[in-house]
This record gives sequence, C-alpha cells and structure tokens, in this order.
Amino acid sequence: PSDIPVPAPKVEKLPAYTNHDGFLLPVGFPTTSFDSALKYEAQDNDLFIVTYPKCGTTWTQHITYLILHDGVPLSADQRMDVVWPHLEEVGSEFVREKATIAGGYRLIKTHFPHKYTPKNPKAKYIYVARNPKDCVVSFYHHTVGFPKHYDFAEGEFDTYFNLFLQGKVDSNDYFEFLREWLDHKDDPNVLFLRYEKGRQDTREYILQIAAFLDDSIYPQRLLADDERILKLVMEHSSLDSMKQNPRRWCSDRTGFKPFIRKGSTGGWDELLSEEQAALLQKRLDEMFTKEELGFLGDQ
Ligand code: A3P
Repeated sequence: PSDIPVPAPKVEKLPAYTNHDGFLLPVGFPTTSFDSALKYEAQDNDLFIVTYPKCGTTWTQHITYLILHDGVPLSADQRMDVVWPHLEEVGSEFVREKATIAGGYRLIKTHFPHKYTPKNPKAKYIYVARNPKDCVVSFYHHTVGFPKHYDFAEGEFDTYFNLFLQGKVDSNDYFEFLREWLDHKDDPNVLFLRYEKGRQDTREYILQIAAFLDDSIYPQRLLADDERILKLVMEHSSLDSMKQNPRRWCSDRTGFKPFIRKGSTGGWDELLSEEQAALLQKRLDEMFTKEELGFLGDQ
C-alpha cells in the first residue's frame, strides 16, 4: 500500500577536506599557509622530514631530535609541532623565524609530494615509507580521531578505505606520492628510510640517521662511552616512552584516539579485509617494479 513510508536511503558519511587546487588538506589548515609553503626557499642548512601521513613521521623526528640533543628528549611542556614545524600548516614565515636550529640544521616537516617540496641541493631530506596496509589503517584512526579537522568521528572504515584507494584523502594518492619520492631515493641529499625496517632493527635505523646528519660526528658520539647516547636515543624513542606525555606530539587533539597507537608492522588485518588488501597490492604491482617492491620490503 502506498501509505507505508519508504525509509530514506542511508547517506554515507564522508570525511571533510579543504580542496585547494586539487590538493586535499585537513579542514582548518589555512590555504594561505599552503601557498606560502610552496614559495618557501629552502636553505642550505634545512633538514626536512618528508612523509606521506601516518608513515612514522613523529617517531623519526624524535629519533633525529634525540641524536641532535645528545639523547635529551622533548620535555613534557614542549610540542613537536612548535619545535619542528609543519611547513604547509604554518607557512614559510613561521618556519624561517621559529623553527629550531639544532646541530646547525633548521628542522622542517612536510607532507608535500616531491614536486611541491622546496628544493636545495645542499638541504637534506629524510623520507620515511611505510606499507600501505598499515598506513591506511593508521590514517583511518587518525581521521576518526581528529573531528575538528575531518568531522568523521563516526566514519566507517570501508568508506575511508575507498577514498584512500582513490587518492581522495589529505596528501592525495599514497601510491603516486611514494612513486615520486622513490625516484629520488638515491639522491645524495636524501635518506630514504622504511618504517618496518626501523621497527625491526631500531639501532641500525638510528645509526643510519646519525650518519646522514654528519658521518664524522654523530655515529661516534652515539657509540662512545659504551653507547651511552645511543641507549638514551633508543629508550626515549621507544613506543612506551613516547606514550608518556602525549601532548608533546599534538596538544589540541579533541578526539578520543591516542596519537601513539600500536606502532605495528603487519597489524592491518584488524580492519582490512583480504579483498581490500589485494586491492592495495594491485596498485603496488601496477606502479612499482619487482626490484622496487623488493626494496620497499615484504608488504
Ligand atoms: P599506528 O597508528 O599504526 O600505531 P605519523 O607520526 O607519521 O603520524 O605516524 C604515526 C604512526 O607511527 C602510528 O602508527 C604511531 O603509533 C606510530 N608511532 C608513533 N611513535 C612511535 C614509536 N615511538 N615507535 C613506533 N611507532 C610509533
């Protein structure tokens, strides 16, 4: 009978982004900062940490910070995003005037793809890659946990996954981003790291960063005195230690998910179906050679 009400179709909740000339940003990131970041003139002493989001940025930043500060961690009242600012979030003026200078380096973070990253042949770039399966799960938790940036607190994983697969999330397409940076992995001023390798052998990961910063200073300093400083760096960059005083990593988190979460490698099956994992693998196979996939590691 015609008087039975027809239920309204379920409307899929999507995360909100600011679409700035085709580049998606979290809501609240000023587009003026983004534009000024594009014009930032990289200096000889700049040290960039460059990542696709959720690939181990903060961990690697803290390791690097610890190396440059003889193993002294960020204190409870310091914030990584002030000490080591995010270029496209705050703009170039803030970076020029306020970014920390440590060991002679100006510390700058970016989630820019290679084509947008300010270049200088003398500046240094630490890139961290992580497998897409753990990345999409981590990025989903991040997006749900930051309602003020994404308005997606109740969002479903499957919805998020489809956007990620199509490159319709902040920093756009994971695979293109990785493709562009992988082409520069052997540039003399690029250190191309892998999150999974770092989790497997953190000592080696730290020593690689130390050598990249200055081979004639930091490795020796870390190893001297029965590896005193290396032990401090290991201790203060561990997952358990970084879970202490989490406001250091993001003070204005209004969501309910902790920023330092599981830090797992291969823990993606908590949310990802086999079919979804296969879709990510298909994109990897389309965009990277066998050798490159071997280098990136068993995904
Ligand atoms: P998970 O969400 O999978 O746990 P980014 O800093 O680029 O946003 O990356 C966040 C990811 O790095 C999160 O992954 C987080 O738990 C992990 N991470 C943060 N600190 C870490 C640490 N000290 N050791 C290992 N992983 C860490």
